[in-house]
Amino acid sequence: MPGHAANRRILQPCHQRTGLSKRRLFSTLNFLEPSMEKLLSPLKIGQRTLPNRVIMAPLTRSRASQPGDVPSALNALYYTQRATAGLIVTEATQVSRQGQGYALTPGIYTDAQEAGWKQVVQAVHAADGHIALQLWHVGRISHSLLQENGGAPVAPSALIANNSQCFVVHPDGTAGNVPTEMPRALALEEMPGIVAQYRQAAVRGKRAGFDFLELHAANGYLLQQFLSTNSNQRTDAYGGSLENRARLTLEALDALIDEMGAQQIGVRLSPHFTGMDMADTEAEASALYLAKAFSQRGIAYLHIAEPDWIGGPELTDVFRAQIREAFNGALIFCGGYTADEAQALIGRGTADAVAFGRPYIANADLVEKFRQGAELNRPDSTTFYGGAEKGYTDYPTLDMQPA
Ligand code: PHB
Repeated sequence: MPGHAANRRILQPCHQRTGLSKRRLFSTLNFLEPSMEKLLSPLKIGQRTLPNRVIMAPLTRSRASQPGDVPSALNALYYTQRATAGLIVTEATQVSRQGQGYALTPGIYTDAQEAGWKQVVQAVHAADGHIALQLWHVGRISHSLLQENGGAPVAPSALIANNSQCFVVHPDGTAGNVPTEMPRALALEEMPGIVAQYRQAAVRGKRAGFDFLELHAANGYLLQQFLSTNSNQRTDAYGGSLENRARLTLEALDALIDEMGAQQIGVRLSPHFTGMDMADTEAEASALYLAKAFSQRGIAYLHIAEPDWIGGPELTDVFRAQIREAFNGALIFCGGYTADEAQALIGRGTADAVAFGRPYIANADLVEKFRQGAELNRPDSTTFYGGAEKGYTDYPTLDMQPA
């Protein structure tokens, strides 16, 4: 296996210096790493007790099987390799064909997709893991080539997302990034149909056996397009005031709660995110309003994506503390944290858990590596999206070391 050599580079020198057996060395390191104690301690979220507070963040990997955007045995292997995470949040998964913005991402709106996800969940559970399905509607971050009958993508208002791309397969079979297209504004009468898309996804996600459903209200996709002051210019019950802009998020959330129960629901928000042409003048007020509404409903967790990966100002400690105060469930932050920083954030009481994205691409055994203070593999960005095993299920882990 190509990965073995890289692993050897990480561990052998230390091994040789101490003269201890590998097992003995690791238990010594365990003993010497009290700094990771908080991050590696159990956490009760809803009815589930997670074995640690290292969350696998949702990561688009564009490897759903075709045709039909169906999760496959390869996807099940990828997630199962990462089952020691306190909780896996799946890649964003479209709730409908209309909600798709990138070719090759999985869905949760057909029987085949549901069966594919069930196979993923069963494999993760067999490895004692916990897994949440992230429910996604991209809104205007789409293109007619991805839509039913070549229609326009939908959005709160007919405003194009500037400087934003989606990924399509062209009629000649070639694939690539293209700028997003001008969306059409959803009619008021269509809004129940949008909520129904989330509801059917929740029904399927529950049947597939997921521990949690995570409502994706972040990163400039449909729900954040409604939340944000610049992308929502509506004058009906879904636009104008902060309460109106938050209405669709809460209606979708209530549909999920109806189907799955509040204790198995999380929401992801990304206040101050400026990618996908987001420019919300009320980002913090909106997040705090929602956090309180989530508390009233008793949902399991709130997952905050910090605007590190694509742009936006850093969140302030004051705002993080306000979110903490406003929300009474488990609070997860995600945003380029190191293990030490995550441990400190949890230690200060600001977060209950921290999610890791890119480190999880290249380190399926991230929890064990944190426990041992082992060096991390670096992810290869050329294999982030699309392809098969390479850069997906073949990164080396510590237990692949020669004894
Ligand atoms: C992406 O596929 O680029 C993507 C998906 C979901 C996100 C962010 C980015 O939340």
